[in-house]
Amino acid sequence: MAKNIALFLKQALNNPASVGAVAPSGKALGRMMARGLGPDSGPVVEIGPGTGSLTRAIVAAGVPQENLTLVELNEAFCHLLARRYPRARIIHGGAQEMGAHGIRNAAVVISGLPLLNFPSGLQHEILSAVFDALAPGCKLVQFTYGRKPPISPQVMQNLELTWHLRGRVWANFPPASVYEFRRGG
Ligand SMILES: C[S@@+](CC[C@H](N)C(=O)[O-])C[C@H]1O[C@@H](n2cnc3c(N)ncnc32)[C@H](O)[C@@H]1O
Repeated sequence: MAKNIALFLKQALNNPASVGAVAPSGKALGRMMARGLGPDSGPVVEIGPGTGSLTRAIVAAGVPQENLTLVELNEAFCHLLARRYPRARIIHGGAQEMGAHGIRNAAVVISGLPLLNFPSGLQHEILSAVFDALAPGCKLVQFTYGRKPPISPQVMQNLELTWHLRGRVWANFPPASVYEFRRGG
């Protein structure tokens, strides 16, 4: 655990915009992000897993590693994830490139990306890739430290996204809100 925090902090100092947090998510946030998942959830994609705080909650909920794809930009985090989740598929790259990796028909995308740090062009690229990767009608689950949905209104409108607040997690540093996004009504 202390090793995770040290690695996270080092990477956050070196890459503040893309890591976008000072500490990994806590257990309560992990549980809220993984709510509803289980052995029969189907293919789960996690984007921005970092040191794997949310991954741990997803696996604890019963999702087999074989059904899990982890897409992470940071190479040091990818090495750690590969050691810890040897049967998961780990992609070292940007979430915006998921299509090039053939990721399709996901049942859910779980995101720890710091979307508020991203310009709207990059948000658009990432969210297009997310909804291309999801099976029709399936959702993106995203947390944010802000008090509003973390996707720019213009991107929401362009991609015809609708949102729902799943809940707030006060027992996290910083406190976080968890949103679900879907495409269309
Ligand atoms: C706020 S941290 C969240 C880490 C972890 N999910 C957690 O909740 O503790 C954001 C993570 O997203 C990764 N990241 C940033 N931009 C990315 C991108 N375009 N594609 C994939 N991962 C990205 C960072 O390297 C970092 O690991």
